[in-house]
Amino acid sequence: MILFKKTEDLHKWLDDQRKKGKKIGFVPTMGALHEGHLSLIESSSKSNQVTVCSIFVNPTQFNDPKDYERYPVTIEKDIELLENSGCDVLFMPSVVEMYPEGLGLPLHYDLGYLETILEGKFRPGHFQGVCVVVHKLLEKVLPDNLYLGQKDYQQCMVITKLVDLIGLKKKIIINICPTLREPDGLAMSSRNVRLKEDERKKAVAIFQSLSFIRDNLEKGDLSDLKQNANNILAKNGFRTDYIEIAGANNLSLVKEWDGKIKLVAVAAAFLNEVRLIDNMLLN
Ligand code: PAF
Repeated sequence: MILFKKTEDLHKWLDDQRKKGKKIGFVPTMGALHEGHLSLIESSSKSNQVTVCSIFVNPTQFNDPKDYERYPVTIEKDIELLENSGCDVLFMPSVVEMYPEGLGLPLHYDLGYLETILEGKFRPGHFQGVCVVVHKLLEKVLPDNLYLGQKDYQQCMVITKLVDLIGLKKKIIINICPTLREPDGLAMSSRNVRLKEDERKKAVAIFQSLSFIRDNLEKGDLSDLKQNANNILAKNGFRTDYIEIAGANNLSLVKEWDGKIKLVAVAAAFLNEVRLIDNMLLN
């Protein structure tokens, strides 16, 4: 695996690969890698001759500065995992390399409704930060295929919209890969390493509350179902930002289900200091 820290060096190397007719797959990450990330690398390696992974903890997407300071950084372990996973290139830029003009966000991405609900509502500015960094990364890597985890359901929609909005000079195919889970059901996440032992045991409640919604879903009013799912979180010490049922294709919140449209249940909740998110397709 080759490690690049400078855009110019990355560009030159990738240009050579393109000239040789090689397809490029890209997995953007913020590090603290786990099997979920490695499954994205694996998917990319199967369909592309070159797989690029980026590790960059992006300061502009943290609406809470403390969350940024505490974001887990495990670079040596990450590099070892990537070397053993079939990743060809690791791009690990500095903050100055990514934001030579400073951390202000000069562009506003028109994400419309998507930015007003769920993560957009509870983490103001978060998706603008995601868009600015992904825009920069896509311009630097210009991949044929982009790999994203379904765990960040709303982020997948935002990035899909971003790719439409920015119209890059190359068509990028977005591949959304399934969430990987621990044996008890907890979705794999970089933030899980911040859970203390007792919190880790309780954390599975977020999966249980989503499973409860899936298993008890019926046509009609959904408010009791959501309330009961929220009770599962509360009983386990979670402070809920939201637990919602939404259209799987557009994330419009659904109060009354017609028994037909495709649904996804989405949740975000804190266990003490640690905020976890998860989602589940329901039908
Ligand atoms: O999902 C993440 O890890 C980040 O939001 C991303 C897409 C790498 C942008 O910083």
